[in-house]
Amino acid sequence: MSLKLAILISGRGSNMQAIHRAIKEGRLDATIAAVISDQPAAPGLAYAQAEGILTHVVEKQKGEDREAFDRRLIAQLEEDPPQIVALAGYMRLLSPAFIGHFHRRIVNIHPSLLPAFPGLHAQRQALEAGVRYSGCTVHFVDEGCDTGPIIDQRVVAVLPEDTEETLAARILEQEHQLYPACLQRIAEGKVKVEGRKVLL
Ligand code: GRF
Repeated sequence: MSLKLAILISGRGSNMQAIHRAIKEGRLDATIAAVISDQPAAPGLAYAQAEGILTHVVEKQKGEDREAFDRRLIAQLEEDPPQIVALAGYMRLLSPAFIGHFHRRIVNIHPSLLPAFPGLHAQRQALEAGVRYSGCTVHFVDEGCDTGPIIDQRVVAVLPEDTEETLAARILEQEHQLYPACLQRIAEGKVKVEGRKVLL
């Protein structure tokens, strides 16, 4: 059965585009109920609109706390309830209430081999640590920072001449393959979580 997704973005949305391409090309059995951005100027919104995907902007209001903001986000999502909420460059921390509401149904992609280099600037952290390999991780979201059960990872070699930009670009190529592939495994019912781990 086709997997119903909602995708949250804040910026260019290249992972959202990769997911959409995979659907169009028949590599991912899913539908996108909506793309939601917290940033009205997110470049990814234009792509989604041009492709006929429903988009919404849920923007933080002045003085609004995270819980109140997330309540509005939940209400927007529940207008057409998704099975999976896919974060694709969504730059806001989610409240425990949001994570509880969509328990084990929120998926994120992160540009490092977690648990190494969580949080911001993962590629810069990898270069500063001098690791020879980095990569990307798709994982379920829990209340920690990039700590939820790992669904799958791709390894990318760090080259001596790498800058943050070149490393980020090579990791991104892998992200664009990994994210749709993981969602397809979820669509096929092949991703089972036991305790803190996804079963191999
Ligand atoms: C990606 O590197 C992703 O791993 C991270 O934020 C970036 C988003 O890029 N979470 P895009 O908006 O999908 O192009």
